[in-house]
Amino acid sequence: MLGTRPPGFQPAATNRQRPPRIDSRVPPPAILQAMKARIGIIGTGWVGTSVAFSTLLAGHARELWLHDTRTAVAEGEAMDLADGAAFYPPCAVSAVPLAQMREADVVVLAAGRNGRPDESRLDLLRDNARIAAGIGVALKGFAGIVIVVTNPVDVLTRVVQAASGLPPERVLGTGTLLDTARLRERLAVRLGVATQSVHAQVVGEHGDSSVALWSGARVGGVALRDWPGWQAQDEAALAQQVRRAAYEVIQRKGATNHAIGLVTAELIGCIVNDERRLLPVSRVQDNGVALSLPALVGAAGASQVTAPAMDRAEREALVASSDLLDRAFGTLAG
Ligand SMILES: NC(=O)c1ccc[n+]([C@@H]2O[C@H](COP(=O)([O-])OP(=O)(O)OC[C@H]3O[C@@H](n4cnc5c(N)ncnc54)[C@H](O)[C@@H]3O)[C@@H](O)[C@H]2O)c1
Repeated sequence: MLGTRPPGFQPAATNRQRPPRIDSRVPPPAILQAMKARIGIIGTGWVGTSVAFSTLLAGHARELWLHDTRTAVAEGEAMDLADGAAFYPPCAVSAVPLAQMREADVVVLAAGRNGRPDESRLDLLRDNARIAAGIGVALKGFAGIVIVVTNPVDVLTRVVQAASGLPPERVLGTGTLLDTARLRERLAVRLGVATQSVHAQVVGEHGDSSVALWSGARVGGVALRDWPGWQAQDEAALAQQVRRAAYEVIQRKGATNHAIGLVTAELIGCIVNDERRLLPVSRVQDNGVALSLPALVGAAGASQVTAPAMDRAEREALVASSDLLDRAFGTLAG
């Protein structure tokens, strides 16, 4: 009876069948190296803390460093997040001085402020540009990747790249990845399909001059414009809904944070795992202006920009968006 074993049964390892010794001199495989990622977040307000939370839950960091000019706030956020360590993959969370960010693999810039109802966009631009330039200078010689989130994100991506002197592919802005997520969500609801089955993207400025690429939008391989019941005249209204999305949220709760937290954590994951996904992110382009086009996002940053198919109206809108961003950057010189 003892001799009859169920199929597939293997006897337990005996002393004579020890597992092979692990040679500690062998370099760890890439996946383990990726798991050592040190992620820094500068600015721990609404956005910075949401980025931290999404990054922790996704397991993209082994060390998460927080910094804010309000030192006590950064410390309190680090303590609060560390208290939840039992519920996310291993990661040490701490508050650190700005200088330590230079040792990180990825630094997220979420420092600055949101627009006030009584001020112009330009006032916000000047204030946040001053902060971004200061942080850019502090990151001169940094060996990792910078992700700019602070608004106006395209102009500030250019400011940080110029101030830090880092190569353009290593300073990327979240850009229209959030606008793209919003567009896909609204299209999915309209068509009654999963968001993941909608392939559409927004390029250009993250903001009022963003360009939704309707001509190339696909739903499960079918051109959106051939989708049964799709009305091309709805496109302008939907694009406007996407542009207005942040204003609608801010009007109700004072800030937007969860979606941008998820977007930024996704980018961090692409970088630390060298996923090389083509995503619409902002970076300084060949014409010197920072705006979003699909780029290969991986360990090298946003390294390879692709030119998506566009119809004439979309191409003209993209040029107009680039000009507007260039003018906005130009106002900082005065
Ligand atoms: N790119 C996007 O898609 C997107 C989405 C949402 C929000 N945002 C932008 O993110 C930025 C932050 O928004 P928020 O709601 O978190 O604002 P917030 O006011 O809640 O937080 C900003 C934090 O930055 C800190 N700070 C200011 N100057 C600093 C400095 N020099 N060094 C370190 N920390 C500093 C402040 O103390 C504060 O804690 C805003 O510019 C907002 O418009 C961008």
